[in-house]
Amino acid sequence: MLADNRSVLPDRLTLHRLALGGDTNAFAEDVARGLTAQPKVMPPKYFYDELGSRLFEAICFLPEYYLTRAESEILRQHADAIVAAIAAPTRLVELGSGSAEKTRFLIEALLRRQSTLHYLPVDISDASLERSSLELLHLYSNLRITAYAADYFTALHALREAKSSERTIALFLGSNLGNFKTDEALNFLRAVRQVLKVEDGLLLGVDLKKPAALLVPAYDDALGVTAAFNRNLLVRINRELRADFQLEKFLHRAVYNEALGRIEAHLVSVETQRVRINALDLEIPFAAGESIHTENSYKFDLPQLAALASATGFALQTSWFDTEQRYSFNLFTAA
Ligand code: TRP
Repeated sequence: MLADNRSVLPDRLTLHRLALGGDTNAFAEDVARGLTAQPKVMPPKYFYDELGSRLFEAICFLPEYYLTRAESEILRQHADAIVAAIAAPTRLVELGSGSAEKTRFLIEALLRRQSTLHYLPVDISDASLERSSLELLHLYSNLRITAYAADYFTALHALREAKSSERTIALFLGSNLGNFKTDEALNFLRAVRQVLKVEDGLLLGVDLKKPAALLVPAYDDALGVTAAFNRNLLVRINRELRADFQLEKFLHRAVYNEALGRIEAHLVSVETQRVRINALDLEIPFAAGESIHTENSYKFDLPQLAALASATGFALQTSWFDTEQRYSFNLFTAA
């Protein structure tokens, strides 16, 4: 099936592999730096190996993870209005496209008002990117795809060279903006601004501040899928760097840091232990209760978003919400 698609459709798909899956060096350096730091940390992009990307897709189906459903609801309701805010014809860039399920609402809205569409997805997982691209080409015969398997900054650099005479809508969904610290978010938004022209749009799906009792279950579900997603990082280190993390000795923990307005995901060592990472020739000591801080997910309010927009060359033009007002979809226009 895949092989068939590949041979039938290659003329509508260009795939740039800029994040070599085999870049063990960068991974090794980041693991060494993160696990010898105090407190211990890991960069979140390493969650998304092939299994991690699939586990994240499973998270999106969890009853506790309201973000995906809220975002789909907004897109189902408002895709035409969202698209109408940017003049035609438009090409669509997506940062962190994953399965690109929700993107279909926007692709369909765009194809209702223009006859063809150029879609440029970026994802760190080349397996997800190839799979989702082939599916979309299969569904939409007037779609053309230029895909970038890369981290955001590498892809944004490449996209600066790929300017177009069409308008651009850039998409950044899934509350991914919340995974940056403030200075990283500012740098990211400035880098996005550089691939856009005045009046182009950036659509940001952003989770809103709310009580911890509603937030925490979304990051610590009863079935344990989020725990598996978090602990898969250790599986990856074991496999790629020949380490001996014992999975049962590290527990997933999600806490809401109210002062900083962020969910923090941790892997907590249940006892005093040492872990060997053979490829790094490194032994990492853990105290009982010591954690590896693996992710932040910042929650926002509209004044914060407006401030981020104006600090990075955008204006916050319109925000849309789900019926329960848990989540927001924000159009930043390039100023
Ligand atoms: N962008 C997602 C979010 O912030 C990523 C995510 C969801 C995540 N669940 C997680 C990251 C659990 C780490 C741990 O909602």
